[in-house]
Amino acid sequence: MTLPAIGIPVITIDGPSASGKGTVAERVAVALGFHFLDSGALYRLTALSALKHGVVLDDEIRIAELAATLPARFHDGGVWLADENVTDAIRTETVGEGASKVAALPAVRAALLDRQRAYRLPPGLVADGRDMGTVVFADAVAKVFLTASAEARAERRYKQLIEKGNSASLSGLVADMRARDARDTARSVAPLKPAPDALLLDTTCMDIESAVQAVLSHYRSKQ
Ligand code: C5P
Repeated sequence: MTLPAIGIPVITIDGPSASGKGTVAERVAVALGFHFLDSGALYRLTALSALKHGVVLDDEIRIAELAATLPARFHDGGVWLADENVTDAIRTETVGEGASKVAALPAVRAALLDRQRAYRLPPGLVADGRDMGTVVFADAVAKVFLTASAEARAERRYKQLIEKGNSASLSGLVADMRARDARDTARSVAPLKPAPDALLLDTTCMDIESAVQAVLSHYRSKQ
């Protein structure tokens, strides 16, 4: 078990898929010169690795082994699995669905715990995910829970997919969004829920820059 990196500030940003937390977290990290952890990418990499190895997504033991030994690297804005650039491959809906399934397996979550905590390095960390403020960095100095309506989130995802030249159905995306939220919220281990001491930020009618400023001022109020 990793010892808590006492004194190194962590800002956690949790919330459902497509709430904008990834973009907000990255911009907050840049503004403060902090490190950035996209914990969802680790679950996506685990799912991709399972799919590549032909492991069924409910084989908890084998998937936990894959999670514990993931040859994951993040650099130059890209994500790598060993020598393969998987930046786009981990963003497909199939891998997102798979990530949500493997994330419900307790042994997989346990296998990724120390790996996530190892990102807590000076001068500080901004971590985004589902359980950053409740489990992984429960001692974080500032916690934010970012939400938006399922319709607003589906619309954002729809625009991203269309911009990348993919086809998409808005009503299908709303349904997927609701199904994934239900699975993330209902699971017994580290369910998606705000930490009791988190600032709740509804971004349905808020642009990214306003959300970034709200997180920065929340962090400053805690210093
Ligand atoms: O954030 P993102 O959509 O990339 O995460 C993919 C999936 O990984 C989520 O649907 C969720 O099930 C899971 N996840 C999680 N805990 C985290 C981050 C992501 O369970 N801290």
